[in-house]
Amino acid sequence: MRIYSTSDLHVDFEPNSRWVRNLSLSDFTDDALIVAGDISDNLQQLEQTLFELQKRFSLVFFVPGNHDLWVRRKECPNSLAKFELVTNLCRQTGIEIKPQRIGSGSEAVWVVPLLSWYVQPREGKDSLFLHKPGEDPTNRMWSDQYFVTWPQKNINRWFLDRNEQEIRNLPAGQPVISFSHFLPRQELIFHKYPPVFDPELIKKYDRNPAFNFSRVAGSTLLDEQLRSIGSSLHIYGHQHRNRDRIIEGVRYISHGLGYPNEREQELTGSGPYALKLIFEPGSELHENQRKRA
Ligand SMILES: [Fe+2]
Repeated sequence: MRIYSTSDLHVDFEPNSRWVRNLSLSDFTDDALIVAGDISDNLQQLEQTLFELQKRFSLVFFVPGNHDLWVRRKECPNSLAKFELVTNLCRQTGIEIKPQRIGSGSEAVWVVPLLSWYVQPREGKDSLFLHKPGEDPTNRMWSDQYFVTWPQKNINRWFLDRNEQEIRNLPAGQPVISFSHFLPRQELIFHKYPPVFDPELIKKYDRNPAFNFSRVAGSTLLDEQLRSIGSSLHIYGHQHRNRDRIIEGVRYISHGLGYPNEREQELTGSGPYALKLIFEPGSELHENQRKRA
């Protein structure tokens, strides 16, 4: 079984929903697909998209992203209730939201969904925050401020604790591919690291100079968690800036579809968007695996 990845399908945009419908009905029937969050805040569209993907893949893995947990239609009292609604939908329809072993013998690999949320700078040291000159610290352009509410504090910790219950019994010695919607490391936010905030480049390329994504990017505790299970390949989404990097023995891949206008501007990569093949039987994962074994 081969494993492909994608994220940030945002099917509320017609070109994105068309892209999903145009995926081959015959090429991937023996394969698995990881969807690292952000399908739609509209439950009907979310369900329909998962159904379309299930028609095409043997297994579909999913974690909710921030957009999936927006409450815009009074369908839930808060985003935690929406999370329960979305995960119940997944359970009822056979979408994989728990660690799952794929393949057998020496070719087996564990695929491990990791729930998470971002930590803002005022909320904890595990924030991925880095000051950006000229930023608006209120982040009022960030829609989550209007569509996401939590009934409790430290929601990232709550999600990571939930993961802990799922991962504590993972057997040692087998390759692990993990995935989350949010980012596990600050380096991944930037094209180059450490970043250079050149006012001229910001003027030319930054579509929203007052917005500082690092405020809402992810958490370093997520990185600790994925390393605690010996993940050698971690898939993530959220930023709509696609990357493929190895940092301290772990390969990190972001390969999202993103918004149509971002594709036009080639912010997510050049050429037509296609799923990314991240694993096939017989292919090596990474050095971390040997450490784990
Ligand atoms: Fe997204």
